[in-house]
Amino acid sequence: MSDWLIYRGAGAPHDGIEHLPPPPPWRDFDGGPVVPPPAALDPASERRLGVRPAEAEARHHRPGETERELVNAALYLRRPLLVTGAPGSGKSTLAHAVAYELGLGRVLSWPVVSRSTLRDGLYAYDAIGRLQDLQIARQSVAGPEAPSVAAEDEPGGGIGRYIRLGPLGTALLPAARPRVLLVDELDKSDIDLPNDLLNVLEEGEFRIPELERLAGSASEVPVLSDDGTRVTVRDGRVRCRAFPFIVLTSNGERDFPAPLLRRCIHLHIPLPDKERLASMVRAHFGEGAAERHEAVIDRFLDREPGDVRAVDQLFNAIHLTQKAGWTNEDEEETRRRLTAELLRPLDRTR
Ligand SMILES: Nc1ncnc2c1ncn2[C@@H]1O[C@H](COP(=O)(O)OP(=O)(O)OP(=O)(O)O)[C@@H](O)[C@H]1O
Ligand SMILES: [Mg+2]
Repeated sequence: MSDWLIYRGAGAPHDGIEHLPPPPPWRDFDGGPVVPPPAALDPASERRLGVRPAEAEARHHRPGETERELVNAALYLRRPLLVTGAPGSGKSTLAHAVAYELGLGRVLSWPVVSRSTLRDGLYAYDAIGRLQDLQIARQSVAGPEAPSVAAEDEPGGGIGRYIRLGPLGTALLPAARPRVLLVDELDKSDIDLPNDLLNVLEEGEFRIPELERLAGSASEVPVLSDDGTRVTVRDGRVRCRAFPFIVLTSNGERDFPAPLLRRCIHLHIPLPDKERLASMVRAHFGEGAAERHEAVIDRFLDREPGDVRAVDQLFNAIHLTQKAGWTNEDEEETRRRLTAELLRPLDRTR
């Protein structure tokens, strides 16, 4: 394996990200002040991947070669990775696999729905909450609860307490190492979102007008990040430093505008074959599980053209078989029937 690969898909966490070459000059960002990194390992990613650190190397599901190479291309080029593929092919989990192996901490997750706007991903400002708090503070100014007025002594009159960065906003904070951002199911969005997103990702920055207005009186204001930590925003502008590793997923429900496609690295995850399924089963159920449950895997793969099945259905069937401990002939019949039910193609509800 060539050593240009930073993400190796090998499972066990390592510090390869330290060796990521500098960005191309047109993707070099210089935001500040640099925020502290998140904790390197996140239990949510371990759960998604089915691994525990001690056995990560042995049990980990290995991604395909193209998958590994295109993840690295996105890391080198500081471009978002647009991941397409059938339901359950592992699009969303890829973000966790990269964050876990490279020790990049909690995956910032933005599940997109038709109402999602760019602003939701960037930040939220609770203007009403702020007004209410100010009123309460003024009324009780002479009373024993006066301390809440202290917020007014904070930079910008405490406005930062009411601003919370969203997953995209947090991913763009100036950090020494890339954060991992999952923009999940972008194809479900309103027609404008992909283009709006594109602009922010091109510039690697965004502005918070509520803080920009304070320029002069308060240039550095602490706000809340998506992780719930306090971070400093300077002059109402958030500009990244290490460009985040961004996974945009799509089930192909609609096409994206050409400018977005041009600025992303496109990875299509094919339907999993037997080898890939066996490797995922091993990751979740342990060594030997793929062999023990070969019949269910074969059953999963035996589909009519056009049938859609997701890997989660296979996992459900295997988990149930393991836990129910069916052994005798009658139970074998139950197992067969339930497996067929659980593996029913998703586009055939009846
Ligand atoms: N690298 C991996 N290691 C272990 N398990 C994996 C891996 N990739 C995917 N899986 C498992 O496969 C299942 C489906 O993965 P995932 O949810 O990422 O698919 P998806 O393509 O995002 O599906 P959808 O389009 O429905 O959102 C999950 O249960 C996940 O745990
Ligand atoms: Mg998904």
